[in-house]
Amino acid sequence: MTAELRERIASLPGMERVLPALEGLDPAYLVGGAVRDLLLGVEHLDLDVAVDGDARRLARELADRLGGDAVEHERFGTATVTLGDLELDFASTRRETYPRPGALPEVEPAPLAEDLRRRDFTVNAMAIGLTGGDAGVLHDPHGGRADLEQGLVRVLHDRSFEDDPTRLLRAVRYETRLGFRIEPHTEALARAQASGDGLSTVSGARVRDELLDLLGEPEVGAAVARMAELGLDRALHPLLRADARLIERARDAASEVGADPVLAALAALVACDPDGLAGWVDDLHLTRGRSAAVLRAARGARPLADALRRELAPSAVHALLHSEPPEALALALALGAPEEPIRAYLDTLRDVKLEITGEDLKRAGIPEGPALGRALRETLRLKLDGVVSGRGDELRAALETARRREGE
Ligand code: CTP
Repeated sequence: MTAELRERIASLPGMERVLPALEGLDPAYLVGGAVRDLLLGVEHLDLDVAVDGDARRLARELADRLGGDAVEHERFGTATVTLGDLELDFASTRRETYPRPGALPEVEPAPLAEDLRRRDFTVNAMAIGLTGGDAGVLHDPHGGRADLEQGLVRVLHDRSFEDDPTRLLRAVRYETRLGFRIEPHTEALARAQASGDGLSTVSGARVRDELLDLLGEPEVGAAVARMAELGLDRALHPLLRADARLIERARDAASEVGADPVLAALAALVACDPDGLAGWVDDLHLTRGRSAAVLRAARGARPLADALRRELAPSAVHALLHSEPPEALALALALGAPEEPIRAYLDTLRDVKLEITGEDLKRAGIPEGPALGRALRETLRLKLDGVVSGRGDELRAALETARRREGE
């Protein structure tokens, strides 16, 4: 096993240079998801390295030895080393204590065993030595490998979800992504946390990171169905009722309309009560534009879908859709809006522009003011509906409208 793991690590792209360069430095270990995925035979690994010592110093030294870049991060004393295409994240092994449930943990340096003990699930609580006689040695004090083989997501201790309720979402994500099952005692603990404090003790930003990851899972429908079955939608907010099929459809439709798939899924999640959930969406601290798109889509997609079901002139389709974010179109499609007008809008209508401008109208004697803007809009409407075409036609129609309006 040890020799095999050593070889597998050495055969990862770039590692043939990294491993010899680590010799003589503080003991280093591949940890967390990287070990899990390596044992599962996953192709692309996020390489997290734990250092029993000063991770930032080791990262600097490694980058020096290999001619790469080391970027140090303030938080938790971590560093990232980039060597061509290869990226390695370094962190010092640490102990974590939670001052209160859901809070960010207080951290202090500690040996590897404690670093593994602070982690979420047994399958994520393994390490493989990278240096000296420890190279290739699997450190698995919590039975992670056996759980990996049986496909089980299991917490390390009974307070795990209480300490960090974002693990509720992580458990579902691993179940879905890896095709695993949450182990029965762990599931009982998850249900107890869900129906108790839920995720209310965690900051919105941390909920956001895990929730968006979950909504980005390839099998999002299964993930959300399981989330709802465990009561995690209500644990996120009492008004949340996750509709797994709607969320899956919204995410699929996102690619057809150029929407952000995860934001479209989030809009579908809050579509059950957008007004009641607006404060919760704000608390997620998405960027302002993303948050506005989610809420606008969640509020507007249903009326939009209803309106699009009627027979509409192209100008009416344009008027309905031109100020909607693409996520609203994705959610409208998921709610059963007909594809044809949305396709027509995206393929042609949205790019239709007048050949004339306000300057042309001013030169023809129309004073600046609301009548001028209205004339341009009215002419665009006529152009969209195929009533006018070409510059001369446009100018005549716009002047006629502006003068008629002036005379009114
Ligand atoms: N971790 C944890 N509790 C959390 C978040 C992370 O114990 N709430 C630990 C886990 O051991 C995890 C590691 O930190 O493996 C790295 O976290 P992250 O990058 O989020 O997970 P990975 O397993 O590396 O990656 P992914 O889940 O995306 O595959």
